[in-house]
Amino acid sequence: MAKTRRLGMLLVLIFLVLASKGEDDFSYCESMVRKWAKSSAGNRNKADKLTLKDFLFFLHVPRTGGRTYYSCFLKKLYANTDECPRSYDKLRFDPRETNCRLLATHDDYSVMSKLPKDKTSMITILRNPIDRVFSTYEFSVEVAARFLVHPNLTSATQMSKNMKSRSRGVSTLDIWPWKYLVPWMREDLFTRRDARKHTEVRSIKGKQNPYDMHEFVMPLHTFVDDPMAHEIIHNGATFQLAGLTNNSFLTEAPKIRRCIRRHPNLDHYVLEVAKGRLDHMLYIGLTEDHKESATIFANMVGSQVLSQSAALSSLGEEVTSNKTGTNSFQDPEDGGENQDQRSTGDNTLGEDAPSSDAETTDENMTVENLMEAYETCTSTLRKSQYKRRTISLRKIAPAYFSKEARLQVPQTVIQKMLLLNSLDVDLYKHAQQLFMEQAKHLMQIGQPKSEPQNKYRLFEMETQEARYNLSMTWKVLSLISTTLLFVFVGVFVTTKRRNSKIKV
Ligand SMILES: *[C@@H]1O[C@H](CO)[C@@H](O)[C@H](O)[C@H]1NC(C)=O
Ligand SMILES: *[C@@H]1O[C@H](CO)[C@@H](O)[C@H](O)[C@H]1NC(C)=O
Ligand SMILES: *[C@@H]1O[C@H](CO)[C@@H](O)[C@H](O)[C@H]1NC(C)=O
Ligand SMILES: *[C@@H]1O[C@H](CO)[C@@H](O)[C@H](O)[C@H]1NC(C)=O
Repeated sequence: MAKTRRLGMLLVLIFLVLASKGEDDFSYCESMVRKWAKSSAGNRNKADKLTLKDFLFFLHVPRTGGRTYYSCFLKKLYANTDECPRSYDKLRFDPRETNCRLLATHDDYSVMSKLPKDKTSMITILRNPIDRVFSTYEFSVEVAARFLVHPNLTSATQMSKNMKSRSRGVSTLDIWPWKYLVPWMREDLFTRRDARKHTEVRSIKGKQNPYDMHEFVMPLHTFVDDPMAHEIIHNGATFQLAGLTNNSFLTEAPKIRRCIRRHPNLDHYVLEVAKGRLDHMLYIGLTEDHKESATIFANMVGSQVLSQSAALSSLGEEVTSNKTGTNSFQDPEDGGENQDQRSTGDNTLGEDAPSSDAETTDENMTVENLMEAYETCTSTLRKSQYKRRTISLRKIAPAYFSKEARLQVPQTVIQKMLLLNSLDVDLYKHAQQLFMEQAKHLMQIGQPKSEPQNKYRLFEMETQEARYNLSMTWKVLSLISTTLLFVFVGVFVTTKRRNSKIKV
């Protein structure tokens, strides 16, 4: 009897220790995340954010069409020698060692620790999170499917290793997040192909949802649910801006990530930091509004880069392009990141870089001919990407991704994607607001220098205003529902705690 009582007491003791440890864990996490958020808030003034500083950092969120900006804008504005070496090699990356003025990378905000912060202007492009997830899925499949020319996985991986060592360029397979997503998807595609050899595949007739053809490719809903997607895709834009991706330079990033995973109610700190970073950007583009975004870019960033370069060259510095420069982006295996233009009817352009993108900067470049050059460049890119994509997706036929086919994805899957990306949804709304302000500012200062026939005219303010108001209403609604949720959770937790106390 005494024995049982002692055992009982021991169990109670263990329970208490565990419980208090859980509490400690939360308060430990909270104080750590809060401390990080505080130190990340920064106290830079926003007043001069619209002035281009010496250094430009393009924070390239994957699948936002940033590759187009890189190839069709930045490559035309900056000489190869102006571009910092890519930071895929973290250990060696130090832009201060070179005379570079431009860094375009998938690295997250934490790379700022390597940059002269006060002299750096930052730009980025954001995209509707649902489309970004779709696009990430489609692109992972597309790049992985290119390997299906090989008889087996061993031969495919061997081949890509050989390609890598032979070329000194950077391949998609070296770049975060593709260096994880593509090999994962590649293995999956080979497994499914092998399985098809041994089983009778049902015949596909009529309209089938290509996002759910498990015989041929990992279904979208499986993809979205995989730990891999949780680790690097969902809320990816927010984490990238916060500098907390799993590719972060920040030493405490893994700890903070673990805490946020364990205590999701701490994630608002991450969102606030990300929003604050957006507030300080020189420029924000929106993938959906790509024409307006390009116009604003040319007028707000392009024009300033051009005058900066002119000033530098009048100082006698070498700003003309050096064609033999070392920074051209060669993608031996797959040519970079293709985008889902055309076949999905997206407004976005590719992330693909054909080898011809290392064009020289034109001494006489103006904002007008920058826009012209951009248009020509994007249409070339679009064509080559469409071709690559079609060829690649043929290997997983009959599955074929397109914008129309996306409509066949059940609402439950879409809802799940929304839920898993709620921070990014919020961030995107914030970006839309800032985008509006940018456009207004540009109109106020009398830009763009647009002749009446200018086809890149700024979009009609009214429709945008309407959308903006709509999202404001939505915001209020979501605020109310979030509050209700918190109250509900609070009540739930207290009652639960009370109950468990009674039990003890
Ligand atoms: C994979 O394919 C290569 C090339 O055809 C072949 O030499 C090798 O034996 C295959 N390996 C396996 C495990 O089937
Ligand atoms: C990032 O995530 C991938 C995929 O889960 C994983 O393989 C990799 O080790 C992670 N990297 C770090 C630095 O944690
Ligand atoms: C161009 O780059 C090459 C190789 O990096 C270098 O040897 C040469 O001096 C550079 N030329 C100019 C004009 O900067
Ligand atoms: C740039 O403009 C100058 C003077 O307007 C002209 O002489 C020169 O040929 C132009 N250069 C190019 C590359 O168009």
